[in-house]
Amino acid sequence: MSEQVKLTIVFPDGSEENYFSEKGDTLWKTLEIIGVDTGGICGGTGICGKCKTKVEGAVSPVSQEEKQHLLPDEIKMGERLACYYRVDKPLTVVLNKNDNLAKSNLKLKFYNEKKTHENNIKVKKIFINGLDANSPVTLQERLLEGVNPYFLMLNPDNYNELVKLDRAGRPTLELYAVILDDKVIPNISKEKENIYGLAIDIGSTTISGALINLENGELVGLKNVTNMQRVYGEDILSRVAYSTIDQSNKDRLQKLLINNINSLIDSFQKNVCAQNIYKVVVVGNPVMLHFLSGLDVSGFGSSPFVGVIADEFVLKANSIGLNVNEMANMILLPQLGGFVGADTTACMLNLPYNSNSNFLLIDIGTNGEIVLCKNRELWATSAAAGPAFEGGSLKCGTRAIQGSIDRVFLQDRKFRFNVIGNTLAKGICGSGVIDLIACLRQVDCLDENGVIKNNIKTYFDVLDENNYNEIVIINGESTYNGYPIIFTQEDIRQVQLAKAAIRSAVEVLMTVAKLDYKDLDNIYLAGAFGSFIDPENAIKIGLLPNVAKNKIKNIGNAALDGAILALINKGIKEKAKDLKNITKIIDLANTDNFNDIYIKNIGFTAKS
Ligand code: FES
Repeated sequence: MSEQVKLTIVFPDGSEENYFSEKGDTLWKTLEIIGVDTGGICGGTGICGKCKTKVEGAVSPVSQEEKQHLLPDEIKMGERLACYYRVDKPLTVVLNKNDNLAKSNLKLKFYNEKKTHENNIKVKKIFINGLDANSPVTLQERLLEGVNPYFLMLNPDNYNELVKLDRAGRPTLELYAVILDDKVIPNISKEKENIYGLAIDIGSTTISGALINLENGELVGLKNVTNMQRVYGEDILSRVAYSTIDQSNKDRLQKLLINNINSLIDSFQKNVCAQNIYKVVVVGNPVMLHFLSGLDVSGFGSSPFVGVIADEFVLKANSIGLNVNEMANMILLPQLGGFVGADTTACMLNLPYNSNSNFLLIDIGTNGEIVLCKNRELWATSAAAGPAFEGGSLKCGTRAIQGSIDRVFLQDRKFRFNVIGNTLAKGICGSGVIDLIACLRQVDCLDENGVIKNNIKTYFDVLDENNYNEIVIINGESTYNGYPIIFTQEDIRQVQLAKAAIRSAVEVLMTVAKLDYKDLDNIYLAGAFGSFIDPENAIKIGLLPNVAKNKIKNIGNAALDGAILALINKGIKEKAKDLKNITKIIDLANTDNFNDIYIKNIGFTAKS
């Protein structure tokens, strides 16, 4: 057996945990298995330079490759590139405040108003006859009589527990039976136990989970974790490509999701016993749902981009390794079609699509999903926005983590910045980028084609006096590593491409539906990014249509809200199927003059 090397992880709160690494494995691989997000986005291939990790102890010398990505001060502070560092001696890894701490204050906007429920999982009091020594009847037969008309599916352990209560001469036994789907009994116990359901929304960046008491609909636990598949690429197509190289890669990506969900369940364990989780509802984009179920994803890698399933899909949750009751079903809600997944279906479950209203639902991510509802008719599409709004392709871009600039505003014609956690700045996230571009436009330092003007020096230092391609938005004194936060002309290009992709998709749907922007009643923004952007600035740069500000509504984690609805209300599954049937999927690639529309939307101008 290969040698194990001790690894001590020091968490930001000072607590420590010990793990073991295979001698010679990269630090990146070990941290990935433990569940620590290094921030790397190239799958440990040494390209992205983002897996910077602070180590202490008997550390090996810094390699030439690491020196290409690490600043001298970072090396002095003990930072290393985790995917280059081979663990061959005991090591301490110090997680600083910025590690693995995604902004996770996504709200459930709809849960409280819709938590009344009608479930098909219940706990029912039953009575069975005691054992009569003169006329012995097996425990099973008496149970069957007591639970009639339900179908009994107890495992041997459960029978053995009940036998301990079943002594000859005892009178009638009062017990509690869990009833699934109004017909099957998987568990009978002496004490009444609570029964729970788990709702999961798998995003390509974040996985959200909610634990619900199925008897009263109460929210028992709510948590987000980083989707550890991120280390294999920010966008889902990179992960598809990685998984199709080898079966073991695909298994690995499935295992990462399962570990992620089991870690969510673990974090809920102080409130409940995982064995009391009897139902799991999962939503997410089609690729994530395929990965989780162990289904082939190669169909998403090339035209015509079709997966194996799109309708509701049900399997036993523990058949893929989820730590819940063995009888619990895992239900994947229907996907709307194409790359528009069950997360969008779940969002729509919260919205008035069955009324006379006209609205847009926009979920902006690496892949943006957009649904247009016009008087009960629905159209949906997905737009490849790329990672710019999640900080992925920007020079100093970050996700919305501690240390990210998430707000930029003008005060007395001076630029002001808000940093998440009120700490030293680490970079700028999507909401900050939108604000920054809107403010640059406002002070006329950026033209509508996205070109930085020479008056930029009135407001910011530039790295090269001969051009204005790199501006210093925060100098090194206020950053975590002493180096300035830079915003570049190339960053602006990346944002333009992302913004044009989303806005063009909106425009195509509006054209197909023959709907005018002025006739929109609402624009609903779902998901993490939508929750944090300033709608006014998003309108100013042309990302969102120019509608009255009060029509734009942030609906938080509406996908998880929809998954909870499906968990606690048996009628909702039919609504989800109905949504899939009535939604027309628009393929942007096959849309006439899409390129013209896209180019028209490149500029930073507010437009209806
Ligand atoms: S450089 Fe290490 S994960 Fe990308």
